[in-house]
Formats: sequence, C-alpha cells, structure tokens
Amino acid sequence: MPVKIAPSILSADFSRLGAEIEAIEAAGADLIHVDVMDGHFVPNITIGPAVVKALRPHAKKPFDVHLMISPVDPYLEAFAEAGADGLTVHPEAGPNIHRTLQQIRRLGKKAGVVLNPGTPIDALDNLMDLVDLILIMSVNPGFGGQSFIESQLKKIEGARKRIDATGRDIALEVDGGITLDTARRAVAAGATMLVAGTAVFQGGAAQYAANIAALRG
Ligand code: DX5
Ligand code: ZN
Repeated sequence: MPVKIAPSILSADFSRLGAEIEAIEAAGADLIHVDVMDGHFVPNITIGPAVVKALRPHAKKPFDVHLMISPVDPYLEAFAEAGADGLTVHPEAGPNIHRTLQQIRRLGKKAGVVLNPGTPIDALDNLMDLVDLILIMSVNPGFGGQSFIESQLKKIEGARKRIDATGRDIALEVDGGITLDTARRAVAAGATMLVAGTAVFQGGAAQYAANIAALRG
C-alpha cells in the first residue's frame, strides 16, 4: 500500500486556513494533520478546538489531531466534538496515558500515542492493544522546518516490529523533518504515514500536488 501523506497545516498560510485545507485535499492529501500546541508542553502556541471546528467542513479527509498540550485529558472531548477523527497524545502530557487512550476510544475516535525523540520505545509497553496509531517524532515538537533526527529511524524499526507482532492494523506515522530523502528512509524503516509541513507547502498551491506525489514516491 502506498504511504499516506498527512500535510501539517502548521506550514499553511494561517490567514486562509480553510482554502489551504481545500487545496491540500484536492492535491491528494490522505489526512489533514493538525498540530495543537499550548505554549507549555511545547514552546509554541497554535490553534484550539474552535478553529478545528471551523475548519472541519473544509475537508472530507480525516483530521489527524496531534495534541501537544498538558494537561491533555480535559480537552479530549472538545477536540472530538470539534471534528477530530484521530487524537494523538504524548505519554508525558498527563498522569495516566492508558486512561487517556481509553477515553479517546470511548469518544469513538482513533487513539494515537506519540513518542518524542527522547522518549524510549518501551513507552509503548502495555499500550499496544489500545492504539490505532503510533507516531514517532523525528524532531522535538514545537516547530516546523526542523531537521530529521537520524536516531529515530531505529525507533521506527522497533515500532514496526511491535506492530507486526500484534497482527493488528496499527498505523505507523512519522512527524518532523520529512523531505524526499527522509521520507524514503522512514518508509524503508516501516512507516505507513508521513506528516509533512515544509515539504508539502513549499512553492505555493500550484506545487502541492507535485510535492505530495513526490513524497509518496
Ligand atoms: C512539530 C509538528 C510537525 C511539524 C512538521 O511539532 O508536530 O507536524 O509541523 O513540520 P516539518 O514537516 O516542516 O518538519
Ligand atoms: Zn505533528
């Protein structure tokens, strides 16, 4: 199956987010990746549930919502109601990641767990039966346009092995510093879904389709 591309709207023109989402969907995006940041869990502030809700009618493809906020539990319901299809959470963002994932499932959404570059792969222990998606951060979260951290390729391989051992269809997503080169290597390591901000939005709307196609390889 071809790798899925999830453009991160962090790199879009924030003054015209609705039109940008329509453009990436028309250009072949498989999911819309929404980076939610609180200025506390990560050193940047982006968008909240009201903006997600306003954007939701602009796309048919699933909204892949990456929550970089702490505490995260009090906001799960608001993002679910705003139209998120998947909610991805960091183990460090609350007191009990297992309960957080259960809560996402209870809300009827796809549950994702995300590991920062410094978070060991063993953080996945005891969570595999609760996740629909594993996201490996290949940069420290907070900003677009950073360089891919090579050491995370091993973690992608490790996550691939753990997923295969379950026999379940768990997406393996990689986020940060994705270029044509790192996309190819992340996929070779086992990724099935790539988040890309800079690499999708560079060159303006006329380039989006070509950028997405090139990443898909
Ligand atoms: C970083 C975000 C990423 C980021 C990726 O905290 O989670 O989704 O926008 O941007 P690029 O593709 O430019 O590294
Ligand atoms: Zn992200």
